[in-house]
Amino acid sequence: MQREEPSASTLQGRPIKPAVWDAWAREGRRPFDIGVEEMRFLVHHTSDRYGQIAVDAGCGIGRFSRRLRRLGYHVTGVDYSVLSLQLARAEGYGPHLRYLHADLEDGVPSGLPLHGVDLVVARTVVPFLTKPVEWLQQVRDLWLTPAGQVYLVVPIGREQQPLQTGQMTRADLETLCSGWQVERRDTGGLAQIILRPRTP
Ligand SMILES: C[S@@+](CC[C@H](N)C(=O)[O-])C[C@H]1O[C@@H](n2cnc3c(N)ncnc32)[C@H](O)[C@@H]1O
Repeated sequence: MQREEPSASTLQGRPIKPAVWDAWAREGRRPFDIGVEEMRFLVHHTSDRYGQIAVDAGCGIGRFSRRLRRLGYHVTGVDYSVLSLQLARAEGYGPHLRYLHADLEDGVPSGLPLHGVDLVVARTVVPFLTKPVEWLQQVRDLWLTPAGQVYLVVPIGREQQPLQTGQMTRADLETLCSGWQVERRDTGGLAQIILRPRTP
């Protein structure tokens, strides 16, 4: 049976230049705290975390990368903001918590095992990618192990309000998740989403 694919390029993200993210990091902006309930949601929907491979795509200053490491994952944080990565490394790194400088729009970052990642996290990142649906398809087809999962956090735009950069509408989220098996929790204007590839 063929996978159900969303039609290509229906959903466009709004990229921001790395220099802007550098400035955010310099100013100490820390939006979207990581809550206890968020971690419970992730832990509830993942298993066998110890020694599994996780990639924190768009890791920023590494807040979530460090949480993943504490859960037992071997973590690679990926970002294209040089200053964010410096600040992430300043909090510690090692063989099981490393950071790579790469643009997520440029394909699989070198150094990641093809078809070898158990969990890909993109926390408040996909709305900034030019083609979020296609990026997720690439993650599914090239990054993930067969049993791999994706964890997304996406700010939801308010009804009747202009969509802010970095937000998606509820309809966008439906498009984004189409073709995946989905667990979703909406809270405080954020969608927290676990995606698993549908088995044929
Ligand atoms: C809103 S921040 C979120 C940071 C982190 N995920 C968190 O939850 O704290 C978005 C991050 O995505 C990174 N980013 C956005 N587009 C990217 C791209 N094309 N390649 C690599 N990193 C990107 C930015 O540099 C920034 O650090």
